[in-house]
Amino acid sequence: MQIVRTIDSVRKAVKKARSEGRTIGLVPTMGALHQGHISLIKAATQKCDFVVVSIFVNPAQFCPGEDLDKYPQDLEADSVICQNAGVRLIFAPEDKQMYPDKNLTWVTVAELSENLCGRSRPGHFRAVATVCAKLFNIVCADAAFFGQKDAQQAILIKRMVTDLNMDLEIVICPTVREDSGLALSSRNKYLSPEEKKDARLLYSSLKICETMADEGIRDCQKLTQAIRRELARSTRIKIEYVSITDTQKLQDIERIDRSALVSLAVKIGTTRLIDNILLDLNK
Ligand code: PAJ
Repeated sequence: MQIVRTIDSVRKAVKKARSEGRTIGLVPTMGALHQGHISLIKAATQKCDFVVVSIFVNPAQFCPGEDLDKYPQDLEADSVICQNAGVRLIFAPEDKQMYPDKNLTWVTVAELSENLCGRSRPGHFRAVATVCAKLFNIVCADAAFFGQKDAQQAILIKRMVTDLNMDLEIVICPTVREDSGLALSSRNKYLSPEEKKDARLLYSSLKICETMADEGIRDCQKLTQAIRRELARSTRIKIEYVSITDTQKLQDIERIDRSALVSLAVKIGTTRLIDNILLDLNK
């Protein structure tokens, strides 16, 4: 496995792999790798011959006051994980590689950036779409792998690829959870043991919603109320949003028809956590 810092070296390595007839998979990450990331790498190694993991804490996607300065970074530990998972190349650029100059070109995926997390994180999704577009242009992969955990991001990237005719497949992989149901996240490291215990309510509240939907309840207000009631069992949890939207445009809906995305964002202490489930009533 190679670890490279420059765009030129990635291009060279990928070109060589391609000339040997290999297909290329890309897993974009910000590092602090955990089983969630590993599941994406596994999916990538199953589908592609030459897997590239990018590790770049993209400063542009952090809003003022967010955790850019304390975001966990450990390239050594990440390298071991990647090596064991069958990654062929880690691309870990410095900020200067990715943004040598002030960026004048940005990719905005209108509408999909505005609701849900977009409300409290202005500019976040524009920066995510832009850095992913850059990574796609640098790596020229056949497929890139994203987690359902960040549902809005995954849906938005898929849409960007369609709208801009980018020549790669976006594969969305299921959310990996702890036994408690808590979705794995690099930010779980910030939680105290008590906070972590309360964080289980995120998934249990979503499961309650799923059960109610299975029982035939379609009214989104009733469903979100039930989620809020479950989250209210912890006074540490401050709700940012609980939303039920369609899965294409991410607009709030009043009643569930066929499928829906149930998503939420909360703060526990100073840590912001998100989670979601997809409801598919066609099943
Ligand atoms: P990061 O938070 O490091 O996540 C990298 C990828 O791992 C994302 O596609 C995310 O959805 C996925 N992931 C995180 N936790 C997961 C879990 N528990 N189960 C399954 N997949 C999980 O998301 C980003 O980085 C950045 O925004 C990035 C796309 C790299 C652009 O900077």
